[in-house]
Amino acid sequence: MRAYQVRAGGGLALTELPIPDPSAGEVLVKVRATSLNARDRLIVSGTYSVDARGRVPLSDGAGVVEAVGDGVTRFRAGDRVVGTFHPTWLYGTFPGWGELRGTQLDGWLSEYVVADQQSLVPVPGALSFEQAATLPCAALTAWSVVSGTGPDDTVLVQGTGGVSVFALQFARLAGARVVATTSSEHKAGRLRSLGAMDVVDYRATPAWGARVRELTGGGATRVLEIGGAGTLEQSVEAVALGGQIALVGNLAPGDGMDVDRFFRRAASLRSISVGSRGDFEQMNEAIDRCALQPVVDQVFSFDRAPDAFARFAAGGHFGKVVISH
Ligand SMILES: NC(=O)c1ccc[n+]([C@@H]2O[C@H](COP(=O)([O-])OP(=O)(O)OC[C@H]3O[C@@H](n4cnc5c(N)ncnc54)[C@H](OP(=O)(O)O)[C@@H]3O)[C@@H](O)[C@H]2O)c1
Repeated sequence: MRAYQVRAGGGLALTELPIPDPSAGEVLVKVRATSLNARDRLIVSGTYSVDARGRVPLSDGAGVVEAVGDGVTRFRAGDRVVGTFHPTWLYGTFPGWGELRGTQLDGWLSEYVVADQQSLVPVPGALSFEQAATLPCAALTAWSVVSGTGPDDTVLVQGTGGVSVFALQFARLAGARVVATTSSEHKAGRLRSLGAMDVVDYRATPAWGARVRELTGGGATRVLEIGGAGTLEQSVEAVALGGQIALVGNLAPGDGMDVDRFFRRAASLRSISVGSRGDFEQMNEAIDRCALQPVVDQVFSFDRAPDAFARFAAGGHFGKVVISH
């Protein structure tokens, strides 16, 4: 089978590998689509915290069950499946990092993948493989961030990457008001068309936290923190009294936050690590029920996987960059 591996020094090498055999409890999946996340960009460029040279990259993929090993009860040949980001976090609170695809385990950028049956869920009925491949990391992270919000909430989402666009969509499904930030006027229009009530340009308005407070009459009750150290100060300014900042990303270097101001907000700071399989199943029920359509920026063919990474690295994308296998 054809697969890409991470080159020493960065980049992708297309290679031939044997099709793996499923052992007991495992499933062989013919991969139909994958999607990119910020972590994959770092892994493939050789700048991630874990050395992934020689690994097949990508944590997120969807496909069709081709064969099952002994004792498999969750799936049979022909089922449409999508992988979980944390292969062994099934339910409950975060059990620890374990081994993840793309770093300690081979990922999905391959024609076939072998996976433990417990690390897969069915594709939500109406979604294509390309749409389903957007779900494991970005969508589930957004679901975890927005979880528990409702019509009395205002959710602030930062930027227009995969996580933020899903968070906007889930917050709107929950009936929450959404305020978004972006650096692009064109993307601002797309955010509004997805239901963002207000959009602030974080480059033109460096003190965007105060602007969000103004627009919302007191701040956002839930903040999706994408920038990390470089944006936390503004997020603390933007968060409502008693609100929550969900720490997800670290795209912007900086000095962190003013702890005194954070105390004065009586806010909470919660770090997110995607979510469990149980969370994924609940999210998929909501996606089905509400016919949610993931926002796919562009689909590249398997042969053009390096171009998909280039599109992602350039930062012009809105939503998810996908590879069709
Ligand atoms: N903790 C978790 O569970 C988890 C899960 C998934 C991802 N993450 C992390 O979350 C972050 C986003 O991931 P992603 O896959 O959605 O990335 P992505 O698709 O690459 O998103 C990039 C977008 O973020 C926006 N952005 C960049 N710098 C910004 C800043 N200073 N202020 C506001 N927005 C900024 C930009 O939006 P505009 O172009 O609109 O300006 C950019 O297009 C990454 O750091 C990733 O590692 C964490």
